[in-house]
Order: sequence, then C-alpha cells, then structure tokens
Amino acid sequence: MPLLPATRTPDPADAPVLRWGVLGPGEIAGDFVAALQRHTRQRVVAVGSRSAERAAAFAATYAVPNVHVGYEALVADPEVDVVYIATPHSEHTANALLAIAAGKHVLIEKPVAVTADLAGTIFAAAEAAGVFAMEAMWTRFLPQTDVVAQLLEDGALGRLSLATADFAGGPAPRDPSSRLLDPAQGGGALLDLGVYVAWWSQFTLGTPDAVTARGALGPTGVDEQATLLLEAGEAQGIGVVGLRGRTAWRASVVGAAGRVEVDSPYWAASGLTLFGADGAVADRWEDPYGRPFRQGLCYEGAATARAIVEGRTGCPEHPAERAIAVLETLDAARHELGYADPPGWTA
Ligand SMILES: NC(=O)c1ccc[n+]([C@@H]2O[C@H](COP(=O)([O-])OP(=O)(O)OC[C@H]3O[C@@H](n4cnc5c(N)ncnc54)[C@H](OP(=O)(O)O)[C@@H]3O)[C@@H](O)[C@H]2O)c1
Repeated sequence: MPLLPATRTPDPADAPVLRWGVLGPGEIAGDFVAALQRHTRQRVVAVGSRSAERAAAFAATYAVPNVHVGYEALVADPEVDVVYIATPHSEHTANALLAIAAGKHVLIEKPVAVTADLAGTIFAAAEAAGVFAMEAMWTRFLPQTDVVAQLLEDGALGRLSLATADFAGGPAPRDPSSRLLDPAQGGGALLDLGVYVAWWSQFTLGTPDAVTARGALGPTGVDEQATLLLEAGEAQGIGVVGLRGRTAWRASVVGAAGRVEVDSPYWAASGLTLFGADGAVADRWEDPYGRPFRQGLCYEGAATARAIVEGRTGCPEHPAERAIAVLETLDAARHELGYADPPGWTA
C-alpha cells in the first residue's frame, strides 16, 4: 500500500530577493502582490498601467515606489528585474515580447498566450534573449502538487488509467465586453479555466495523443461550457469547465495501485487523500502552511525568483513545452466547438 510523502516545497520566504514590476494592475495583480508581500521577501518596486490614476491607486494600496504610465516605461525601469504580466490573455504576447525586448525576465499570467503558436513565440524570444519566461501556472508550485508529483515520479499509483478535474467558476457576469465573454480578449471557459484542467491531465498522464471536446458557445461566440477528453495512450483525462455554474473544484488521478483525490479547491493550497486499490483510505495529507486561495500565488513567485537567480530560463516544474502543449489542447478544443481564432491571433 503506497503512503504519501512529505512535500519538498521550500518556504517561499527563503527565496532570493528580486525586484518585481507589475504590468496591468487589475484583480489578480493585486492578489499576487499581496501574496508576495505577506509570504515572501520579494520586493514589488514598480507598477505600470495604461492610466495614471490606476497606476497611482495600485501603488498607494501596495506601497509600490515606482509608478509608470504606459507599459513601455515600466519595462524600461532599471530597478525592475522581473515583470509580472497580468493583463487579459489576448495582451500577454505583446506585453511579454515588450518586456523581453527590454531585457526583463517575465512571469506571465495563465494562459501564457491565446494560442500555442503565440506561446511558442514568447518562449523562443525569451530563450534568444537569455531571460526567464514562465506561465504563471501557480497550482504546479503548491505544496500538495509536489506530493502528487512524487507519487507520479515513483510510480506509486501503478499503471494510470484516469485523471479528472473540474473548474467551472460560477455564472459569469453577462457583460459581453468583459474579458470572460469577449472573444477579442480570449474569452471563454477553456482559455480562462481549461488551462487548469488540461494541465492536470497532462501533468498526471502526459501529453495527449487525441483531444475531444463537447460544449456550448454563448451569444458572444465563446465557450461557456466545455468537457474535454484527453487520451494519452490508453489513459483518459477528463476536464470540465464552465461559466454558467460552479462545480466542486476537485481533481483525482487513478492507477491500478490506488488513487489520489485532491480536496476542493485543488487549484489552490489543499489537502489530499490517498486511497488503496480496494478503495479504502490509505493515507491523508493536510496542508500545514495556511496560505489559502490566492495567498498560494506566493509559491510561483518564490520559484520564479529562485530560477532566475540560478540563471535558468524556466522552471522544470512547468516548462515551456508543457505550457505550449496545454495550449495545443485548448486550440484543438476551441476549434472543435466552433470558436475560431479572432483576427490577430496568428504568430
Ligand atoms: N492565477 C489566477 O488565479 C488568476 C486569477 C484571475 C485571473 N488570472 C489571469 O490574469 C489575467 C488578468 O485577469 P484579471 O482578472 O486580473 O483582469 P482585470 O482585473 O481585468 O485586469 C487586467 C488589467 O490589464 C490591463 N489591460 C491591458 N490591456 C487591457 C485591455 N485591452 N482590456 C482590459 N484590461 C487591459 C488593465 O490595467 P491598466 O489598463 O490599468 O493597465 C487591467 O486592470 C488573465 O489572463 C487571467 O487569466 C489569473
């Protein structure tokens, strides 16, 4: 009967200190900065907004010293080591390329780009410039995910047959100009939330050989409900996302020797349960660190700082190849549902 190992996730407060610039001071940018300031020694030294008022307001809320109007000014700030890109998905490629051209390392919110081709463009530019670039797939850096990673590395679950994950966030606001519903901004459940469920399947089972999608498009033409089947050899990954109701936010991976179920919400810091092949509880792991929900964004920030100081252009936990492969899945799924790429989405 396999047992759960201790997490290897290091204390985010131990990561070497970098100076961060925030590009696009919206909702997640505030939560990311709050998590860094609460749980790490990272310094948020600059913010850049398209609006002087929004830049000043963010700077006042989070005590950020350097205030820039326009993203060009932010990426040119010599006091910034790494830029956190927190604009709508559709803007990530242009924003990342701007920062990379200025010689900055980049941590780019999920999805790293709206298509796999555009993601490839970002990672190629970063590699050529010798700077770090990573998709902010923060779930990969959470303590419980490392416990699962060790089970997978050790083959402790036996031959894997199934992975499941759901992330329907709840009814989206019906404003057609919101980033969740506007196709020009990369709206839809797949690009916003499918990145988590496709990643979970690929993290546990590997890159799929075949992708099947079923779902429903809303009046703006974006997917508001989608179910994915990702076939990796004979193993199946199932992912459910949506903007019309809220699911349980659970994930599991099933093998011949046992299965793991991650508590809700699996995409934030959570506990997990290991079940034996007979279905009985074999072990239980509780997160001991108390960094719930978006406080868990501190882990990806700390991992980014460590990798940059070590001279790496990415983190092995979430390499460019994985981020691109997840977007290949989402490209295929979107197209199967009839959500074509809006103009300008070609690399
Ligand atoms: N990791 C997570 O848990 C998580 C959670 C939520 C969102 N996200 C990701 O973070 C990104 C931003 O999401 P959010 O919810 O924070 O969005 P948001 O609140 O709308 O903020 C986005 C910011 O981007 C800037 N921006 C630049 N171009 C824009 C455009 N054309 N339209 C609108 N805003 C534009 C705006 O700042 P200025 O105009 O002031 O420059 C705006 O405040 C998305 O890619 C999303 O997937 C991640």
